[in-house]
Amino acid sequence: MTENTETEKTGFMGWIDKRYPWTPFWKKHLSEYYAPRNFNFWYYFGSFSLLVFVAQIVSGIWLVMEYVPTADNAFQSVQHIMREVRYGWLLRFMHTTGASAFFAVVYLHMYRALIYGSYQKPRELVWLIGMVIYMMLLFEAFTGYVLPWGQMSFWGASVITSFASAIPWVGDVILVWLRGDFNVTGVTLHRFFALHIVAIPLLLCVMIFVHLVALHQVGSNNPDGIEIKDKKGKDGIPLDGIPFHPYYTVKDIFGVAVFLAVFCYIMFFIPQFGGIFLEPDNSLPANPLQTPLEISPVWYMTPFYAMLRAVPNKLMGVIVMAAGIAIMFVLPWLDRSRVRSIRYKGMLSKIAIVVFVVSFVGLGYLGHEGVSPLRTMMARILTVLYFGFFLLMPFYTTMEKTKRLPERVTD
Ligand code: HEM
Repeated sequence: MTENTETEKTGFMGWIDKRYPWTPFWKKHLSEYYAPRNFNFWYYFGSFSLLVFVAQIVSGIWLVMEYVPTADNAFQSVQHIMREVRYGWLLRFMHTTGASAFFAVVYLHMYRALIYGSYQKPRELVWLIGMVIYMMLLFEAFTGYVLPWGQMSFWGASVITSFASAIPWVGDVILVWLRGDFNVTGVTLHRFFALHIVAIPLLLCVMIFVHLVALHQVGSNNPDGIEIKDKKGKDGIPLDGIPFHPYYTVKDIFGVAVFLAVFCYIMFFIPQFGGIFLEPDNSLPANPLQTPLEISPVWYMTPFYAMLRAVPNKLMGVIVMAAGIAIMFVLPWLDRSRVRSIRYKGMLSKIAIVVFVVSFVGLGYLGHEGVSPLRTMMARILTVLYFGFFLLMPFYTTMEKTKRLPERVTD
């Protein structure tokens, strides 16, 4: 059937289609978007990210109805939400659990791209846009963490904004510009509030849309890392492709049900997650005259925080930390392998992925713990391993022997 005859609907949808290209859109991106038939567990995390994004917007809107963004009232207004607003505790725990869940699913989503080489040609832009989204998420989480105006909000904001002062000559000027004051004050809180509830979510919305447009332009990768578009049937449809809707929409609904069960369990029974999702110090109001014993960011930023602390010099520490994120941007050009998926790469790539995971998780642990000489030494070793994974990639991906790719996707 040609596209024209099929798009010509009658009745209500016909009326809509004459005025808005709904049916062509539905076909292009869902019912006639042919995705590889071998998607596995790792392919759930894109839709989970989308789901958590929507949940954050929805719970955020309701929180804003009662939250007061001033230094005098912010902490109290959060207590009011927790104790007096009907189901306020649920909204808040949904939002705090959602923040950690967002990073958990986005990290797994990125890991999937890493093991199946989804960043390689022609999906470099999908990856780069993803990296921009990831950086925005870090800013979104950081600005959000300041809003309850607890001890960690205040001191976290003080430490993180003070990184700017490490920049030679103009650092102090930038610091005051960022904070809007000579210290972290209500002015800082108010501008972070504006960024957290309007600017960053709007940009995120746009970037997520652009991410999906870029993906649909080139088509999805798959666990075998071979191009399904290379083998098409007489009808022009990839032999190993299945329509995204209904096959993957149904599969994703199943995944969402399991994900929501885990999410709700944490939200209802262990929302603080042993002080990892919500740090105990943040249940004390911000006090500029009393520094907490340990200042560490929330778990999803700790790998980079550990890199910062591993370097004795402040400016160098900030540079290493920034490089830790920046290096991920160039990943598509570091991987020189002839194959995409880890299934067909050689032993060196497999060892490298294990080294990467150990270094990232290890740094995450160390960034969460207090400092000691042994921990600093370990953080230094893991930082070297982390960068080694990326910087040596052009060498080990070309040196190793890869396996022969299959003609068609495997099950
Ligand atoms: C709000 C955050 C994000 C959302 C909502 C999102 C959403 C999605 C969705 C729905 C897909 C298609 C389904 C799938 O392949 O799982 C996808 C694919 C992809 N995303 Fe994301 N994403 C996000 C963040 C990121 C980040 C941070 C990166 C990497 C830095 C990234 C890299 C990719 C790549 C490379 C693909 C293609 C994967 C393939 O075809 O194998 N995404 N994303």
